[in-house]
Amino acid sequence: MTEIIAILNQKGGCGKTTTAVNLAAALALLDRKILVIDMDPQGNATTGLGIEKNEQDKTIYTVLSGDNIFEESIVETDIKNLDIVPSNISLSGAEIELSKTIGPHSILKESMDGVSNIYDYIFIDVPPSLGLLTLNSIVAADSVIIPIQAEFYALEGMADLIEAMELVKNRLNSPSPIKGILLTLYDSRTRLGRDVYHNVKEYFGSSEKIFETTIPRNVKLAEAPSHGKPCIIYDDECSGTEAYIKLADEIIKLEGVEENK
Ligand SMILES: Nc1ncnc2c1ncn2[C@@H]1O[C@H](COP(=O)(O)OP(=O)(O)O)[C@@H](O)[C@H]1O
Ligand SMILES: [Mg+2]
Repeated sequence: MTEIIAILNQKGGCGKTTTAVNLAAALALLDRKILVIDMDPQGNATTGLGIEKNEQDKTIYTVLSGDNIFEESIVETDIKNLDIVPSNISLSGAEIELSKTIGPHSILKESMDGVSNIYDYIFIDVPPSLGLLTLNSIVAADSVIIPIQAEFYALEGMADLIEAMELVKNRLNSPSPIKGILLTLYDSRTRLGRDVYHNVKEYFGSSEKIFETTIPRNVKLAEAPSHGKPCIIYDDECSGTEAYIKLADEIIKLEGVEENK
């Protein structure tokens, strides 16, 4: 069974794209078959996986506009088991166009209906807003991962995000439970890091899973995209790579647990 996971948080810079790219690459190297859908007009996941975003004529935008079917926009990356549906700035016009169609929240999900079951995981890299592209991502997803940057304003906007997820669940009858909360840019040695961890735990209570793995601040994670490579290929030993491999292991461990539910 394919599991579709949206990487969600309307805050920019909290590590959504870094997580989409590096978790995808780590799982691909652990022999899972992975697809990343780049839903951000900035196309950072596309570039980060070594695909020239401005040379693509079939993207997620052309899928959403009905110009071609979903499968035709899938591009292979240099990494075995890892494909992407790219994006570029053309997607920035999509929200207005989508808003004029019937059932504007479900276009992505409907376009994915026929996608074959060859993928174990499909990760959707979501833009930093709560607009139609994000709502389409939540509707299409089976679950969501919320990266939270360990900073003073970490939980600001979280109520709006939860409300958007509730809206999708209740009004569109498409629940996407939280698979896990991921602390990013995290340093357990600092007071701030520990405070944020505590606040996040308190906010979500015991009802939501917080991944055991936290992602440290690591300059290699920031450098890798400019080489068009996930960090695991750019530097296979740095702390950022280690963290995303650990997160991939944690996801794989959930496979057995969730199947037995
Ligand atoms: N753990 C990390 N350590 C160092 N830099 C990071 C880390 N996570 C993200 N970054 C950098 O921070 C910036 C924002 O991250 P990004 O993943 O693009 O966030 P988002 O997709 O949520 O906007 C990028 O320049 C990225 O390379
Ligand atoms: Mg991003």
